[in-house]
Amino acid sequence: MARRKRNPWTSTGEVLIWIVFVMLLFPAGFAGWAVGHYTSLGTKPPATVTVNVGGTVSTPSTTPTTTSSGGGASVAAGKALFASSGCASCHTFAPANSSGTIGPNLDTAPATDAKADGNMALAAFIKQSITDPSAYIAKGYTDGLMPKTFGTQLKSSQIDDLVAFILSGTAK
Ligand code: HEC
Repeated sequence: MARRKRNPWTSTGEVLIWIVFVMLLFPAGFAGWAVGHYTSLGTKPPATVTVNVGGTVSTPSTTPTTTSSGGGASVAAGKALFASSGCASCHTFAPANSSGTIGPNLDTAPATDAKADGNMALAAFIKQSITDPSAYIAKGYTDGLMPKTFGTQLKSSQIDDLVAFILSGTAK
């Protein structure tokens, strides 16, 4: 008998709890939908996020690796890159203590070839030779030997370092 009296009580309580629950749930759900809906319509929030991410990623990654002196290209960094990128195995270049013979001698060849290549500025010619070796093929050598991947493998700051290193030691 006690059960029959208690059961309706419990179910009324449950119903009340459900009503309260649903009353809270619906506005919460609607608010969630509204926020999501209107944020997706606006294009400004994603743009702000991209800018922030780009800023935090690029600033610290370029600053420490580029130079120790801050600013321009580094001859010392270029010398290290010349060795680590395998340039020494193909090129003779006195400042690098290298004696490779597959490619032109970088002590003397660039100055001559820059003139032959439409009288290019030496630094621009050296840079072009690294990023786009096929643009000018040194006399007596064939296309396809010098890897064409340095332009994408190395950062532009690293290419500038290599150019600075070669420029500092080659004949002008
Ligand atoms: C597998 C051999 C090989 C490697 C490695 C190589 N080169 Fe070369 N390089 C050549 C050959 C061959 C040429 C001549 C053909 C041409 O002009 O593309 C050349 C041409 C050049 C020239 C132009 C020289 C001139 O007078 O025309 C420069 C500058 C140069 N290389 C720099 C580099 C640097 C810097 C690296 C490393 C990042 C490098 N090379 C790695 C083979 C190589």
